[in-house]
Formats: sequence, structure tokens, C-alpha cells
Amino acid sequence: MQYTFRSPDWDTYRMDYKQPFAVLEPIESEIAVVGSVLAQLVEIGMLPHAHYDESHFMAFRSFVAEQFEIPWTAITPRMQRLLWAINAIIQPQNMIAAGVFCGNTFISNAGAGVGPGAVYTARNLIGVEIKPAEAQRAERNTRRIDSSGVARVVAEDAVKVVAEFPESISLLYLDADGTDSRGKGIYLDILQAGLDRMPAGSIVLAHNSVNCAEKLSHYLDYVRDSANLRASLNVIFDVEGLEVSVK
Ligand SMILES: C[S@@+](CC[C@H](N)C(=O)[O-])C[C@H]1O[C@@H](n2cnc3c(N)ncnc32)[C@H](O)[C@@H]1O
Repeated sequence: MQYTFRSPDWDTYRMDYKQPFAVLEPIESEIAVVGSVLAQLVEIGMLPHAHYDESHFMAFRSFVAEQFEIPWTAITPRMQRLLWAINAIIQPQNMIAAGVFCGNTFISNAGAGVGPGAVYTARNLIGVEIKPAEAQRAERNTRRIDSSGVARVVAEDAVKVVAEFPESISLLYLDADGTDSRGKGIYLDILQAGLDRMPAGSIVLAHNSVNCAEKLSHYLDYVRDSANLRASLNVIFDVEGLEVSVK
């Protein structure tokens, strides 16, 4: 089943990619928009509930704003909050994020399980970045927030890492833009490399469901077909978008 969430201001809510923590709207409005997405995910049976801890989230956000080196990012404050909240609610023991660049997207997911905002204890929170220099920076950023090593970044091809991961994967985040002709089309390769180890109820998050919809069309067709994934929601609350799918 395919669903859509669309906020009325999705195309005017815009960030400066070089100022990831600039305030774009009153915090109450950010909380309300993300709360409406979570409520829809609950209503269609993709999440068990919509509650998350605001003070833990803000502790996480402040730490990343102060300590992470982020040359640019397309993760809006709404997206950061939604990614963190979904992880805080699902509490995946094993989470893999593919194509993490400097690590901001990775920690937006992993920050629910490590660091000052942690709300649970995870086993493995793995970020994968194919460019070694970017992977090193993402790993440096990650070490500032997590001394345990539960969250870590590896310099590898995400298809390989997901295919070889030996345990179940309860949350998979997709953001790799591919270094060959596949481009964003690599999302489907990464998902299919791990789908057999994703139990029922596992979540797949795919960034750029709006601004890369065309390049992602075969991925989106796949996750929106209930023969493959149980349900899928296209979250349109900024110009990038996020496809949230449940197995
Ligand atoms: C455009 S960035 C994502 C940025 C992110 N949306 C943000 O706003 O911070 C995509 C990253 O995917 C990486 N990448 C491309 N193909 C990959 C692969 N097969 N495995 C892992 N990472 C990959 C690229 O090197 C790049 O750093």
C-alpha cells in the first residue's frame, strides 16, 4: 500500500545547506509537523506509537551542532527530528545507514542509541561511506559522540556491507548516490542485499523521495508494491523528502 504525507509548506520550507542548524521555523511548528507524520505512520500500522523524548532529542541536536564538522548537509531540522524519532521509537538493535557523507545523516539515525540523547542500548549502528576521506571524517565525528564503538563508520561499498552483515537488520537508511551509472538507483541494490535479514516490521528509510523521485523510480515502484514491502509512506515536508517503508 502506498500513502502520502504532504505539509502545505513543503516547497517553501527551505534550508541553506551550509547552515544546517539555522532556525527555519518556530520549534512548536517543527514538533507539530513531525508529530503529524508520526501519527500517520501509527495510523497505517508502520509504527507502534508516536512518542519520543523531547529533552533527549534536544540534547542530541545541541551536541551535534557544537561538535560535528559538517561542510554541508541537506538534512533539514524537520528531517533530523523525524529520523531520530523513528529510531527512538523502533529502537533497532542493528541499524545500517548507507551513503553517510560526513556523518550527519548517520548520527540523525544513530543518535537515538548513543551519546547524550540516547534512549536505548543498541548492538550495532553502522554508517557506510564509499569515499575513504569522507568516511574518516564521519568516523571522527562519530567518535566525539560515542566512545563505546557501538556506532561506527566504515569505508566500504554499502551493497557489500549490507550483503555480508551476519545479523538481522531492523532499520536500513538509504542515502548513497552511487559512484557509477546507477546513481541513486543503487538504493534498490542495497535494499535487496539485506532484505532477507530484515524481519517483519523492519523499517527502510530512503532520503530524496521528492527531489530525486525520477532517478529513484524503480526503487519507489518496488517499495510501493505490497508484494515486496507491506506499506510505504512518502513524507513530503521539505524539498528532499523521505520514503518510509515497512516490511
Ligand atoms: C550526497 S551524499 C548524502 C548526503 C546527505 N543526504 C546529507 O544531506 O548529508 C551521498 C554519499 O553516498 C556515498 N556513496 C555513493 N555510493 C556509495 C556506496 N555504494 N556505498 C556507500 N556510500 C556510497 C557518496 O560518496 C556520498 O558521500
